[in-house]
Amino acid sequence: MGEDGPAAVRVWPSILAADLADLAGAARAVEEAADGLHVDMMDGRFVPNLTVGPPVLAHLRRHTRLALEAHLMVEEPEALLEPLQRAGAQRVVVHAEACRHLQRVLSRVRALGMQAGVALNPATPVEWLTWVADDLDAVLVMTVNPGFGGQRPIPAAFDKVARVRAWARAAGRSDLAVAVDGGIDGEWAVRAVRAGATDLVAGTAVFGEPSPAQAVARLREAAGKADRPVPGRA
Ligand code: DX5
Ligand code: ZN
Repeated sequence: MGEDGPAAVRVWPSILAADLADLAGAARAVEEAADGLHVDMMDGRFVPNLTVGPPVLAHLRRHTRLALEAHLMVEEPEALLEPLQRAGAQRVVVHAEACRHLQRVLSRVRALGMQAGVALNPATPVEWLTWVADDLDAVLVMTVNPGFGGQRPIPAAFDKVARVRAWARAAGRSDLAVAVDGGIDGEWAVRAVRAGATDLVAGTAVFGEPSPAQAVARLREAAGKADRPVPGRA
């Protein structure tokens, strides 16, 4: 945190809500407004849906300068790590529930030069992070059960954001990015930021709007109005 107060929240539009036949256009629409793009990868096993994989991210890489984050809603995500590095991903987020050897997966992501994130389903306890505190760059708190865009958030997930922040501080990791994902609009963004979120993932609230860039700006504005917890004390 600088002298000017807490850093601004980061906004990651989720391309799941964009026109999947025009991802270059989706990237262009938020190129100047967003902090990065969130790419939801689903395997039809971990979640009952199928989306895209590393080859699509590789193509997207050629059309945008934005950071690309792969959210892997897949079983055995380790098989995708090298393909994602070759494709140009900056951050890989794996589900704790999908990894038999979570620490190994996270350290592999970092060894490949990417940032490592862990996503927690709504029913997964924060304690699952305890023994990987030093292997992470980001925690993604799922505010819906993963698999589909456009769902309504589960209120308890926002209490969990506060728990993740408290846990990170106690673990000496106040620097961790804490993201929320699922049903985030302006109102839920305020709740998330009040609870300690530093990053917002939003699909429908961005690409479901006539101007995705303005929608990102509105999310930032809403987040800016939240009374944010002060790192170190929150
Ligand atoms: C849900 C995905 C989310 C989702 C977000 O399984 O992980 O990233 O696409 O989209 P909205 O904001 O529409 O819930
Ligand atoms: Zn996601």
